[in-house]
Amino acid sequence: MGSAITGWGEALPDHVVTNDDFASRLDTSDEWIVARTGIRERRMGGSTSELAAEAGRAALKVAGLEGSDVDLLVLATTTPDQAIPATSSAVHDALDCRGGAFDLNAACAGFVYALVTADALLGIGHHRRALVIGSETLTKLTDQQDRSTAVLFGDGAAAVVLESGARDELVVAYDLGVDGSATPLLYADHGGYIHMEGREVFRRAVRAELESIERVLESAGARPEDVALFVPHQANVRIIEAVNQRVGLPMERTALVLDRTGNTSAASIPLALAEAADAGRVSEGDLVLLSGFGAGMTWASAVIRWGRRGVGR
Ligand code: ACO
Repeated sequence: MGSAITGWGEALPDHVVTNDDFASRLDTSDEWIVARTGIRERRMGGSTSELAAEAGRAALKVAGLEGSDVDLLVLATTTPDQAIPATSSAVHDALDCRGGAFDLNAACAGFVYALVTADALLGIGHHRRALVIGSETLTKLTDQQDRSTAVLFGDGAAAVVLESGARDELVVAYDLGVDGSATPLLYADHGGYIHMEGREVFRRAVRAELESIERVLESAGARPEDVALFVPHQANVRIIEAVNQRVGLPMERTALVLDRTGNTSAASIPLALAEAADAGRVSEGDLVLLSGFGAGMTWASAVIRWGRRGVGR
């Protein structure tokens, strides 16, 4: 028995920060930011738990479910509200969920790690409905006076509802990995701001994502032309273009939100997926490729089959 994504939703803070807002107080420009990253604006505000609960509520609404129907909650985040307890506890309470809840930190690859984990737990048979959320408030970890990182990151959340009982498997194939020796390239100490060796992270991100996509497509027995929609981590449009060009995935079949959200780490892939689903860009039976990389350095790719055949209520 497989599982299916039956709901999706997002939450973005109201406050929009444009490139010109940064240019008015830092030595940067809209032209530089757009040309080097593809980002035009990002959102700022809220807490990780508030954004996660709002996204979760929206996803449950699309699925036609209540929080009490959920018996597993996985929250992917690198920006928990507190060191203790896990932020998923507050989200579980806000949505009145049942069953267990935990946080998962795999940086920008976190949502794919969480999706694969939730799908596997549903597959064991003890859970029926999982809420998988990516939620981040990265602007709190970013030195707003540092032009090399401030312009890149934004706040936001998105969620999907997974239900068991589907005829097809949701996760057709996946590839998870980490290179812990690359930790010094991208980190934030407790109480400190994000430090990033941007150029080296860029180089490694392209290579890690490319190799991970090749592995996951091979495991799925799929070719790039079989992928109906590619949902990459939204860090930099130049990374996405470089990967797409080498894999042979056209930008027309790629979900992009980073021009409006910036890099929202674990929230970026579900945000792009939720917007694509809302726009009707995925249909029953479609293969969707998700791929992300991030601090750690982690990476995660999954080929999933869209559609809810067999999930009857
Ligand atoms: N405005 C103007 N100039 C800038 C800005 C800015 N906002 N930021 C940096 N610069 C300058 C630099 O100081 C540098 O100047 P110098 O040559 O005088 O030293 C120059 O621009 C070029 O800097 P580079 O770092 O070489 O620029 P690059 O083209 O590599 O772009 C960027 C920088 C956007 C950070 C890019 O390297 C990148 O996207 N890296 C990957 C980031 C990423 O993907 N992170 C993902 C993980 S995030 C996570 O896990 C939380």
